[in-house]
Amino acid sequence: MAIKKIKTAIFISGRGSNLKSLINYSRKKKSKIKIFLIVSNNSKAEGLKLSKKHKIKKMIVDFKNQKMAENKIIKELNSQNIKLICLAGFMKILSKKFINKFKHPILNIHPSLLPKYKGLNTHKRILQNKEKYTGCTVHYVNEKLDSGKIILQKKIKIFKKDNLKKISDKVLKIEHAIYPEAIEKILN
Ligand code: GRF
Repeated sequence: MAIKKIKTAIFISGRGSNLKSLINYSRKKKSKIKIFLIVSNNSKAEGLKLSKKHKIKKMIVDFKNQKMAENKIIKELNSQNIKLICLAGFMKILSKKFINKFKHPILNIHPSLLPKYKGLNTHKRILQNKEKYTGCTVHYVNEKLDSGKIILQKKIKIFKKDNLKKISDKVLKIEHAIYPEAIEKILN
């Protein structure tokens, strides 16, 4: 029997490498999601190119007026019957109203071992503080930045020779693995 896949929207603002990993995951026969929509606040986001390539509808929304932007998105999510949102490098903080209106899970991925190093420039701060470990976290989204309940986390060691580029590359690699895993975990 074919698995019934959860209709999913991915929100991005930039490069879209996590979007790519989620598309790859969604195309597996046994995956739990199907991606119906890519939302971006940035019309120049590199990741938007994946919309055409994979024939996934894209929606570009100007967040200058966040309230209007969120209403527009909610309308689209409802009309497409979207049941899961994955934020993947989405640089806007969704309002409490939006989170309450969307009655289904909203997930985010963050490149640190939350609750440590919320916010931007995580790798830089981690190296400055000479941390021995870093990693990434998939968590539920609430109205506070990078603060919702943790779903899955993966830890890696930082070596003396690791610089910013090395750390970002290593963490990004595990991000691509952990996001699908976290989805599997919550939809099981
Ligand atoms: C990732 O490091 C993610 O954890 C963070 O923003 C970055 C997005 O990268 N929230 P990409 O656009 O998925 O390549």
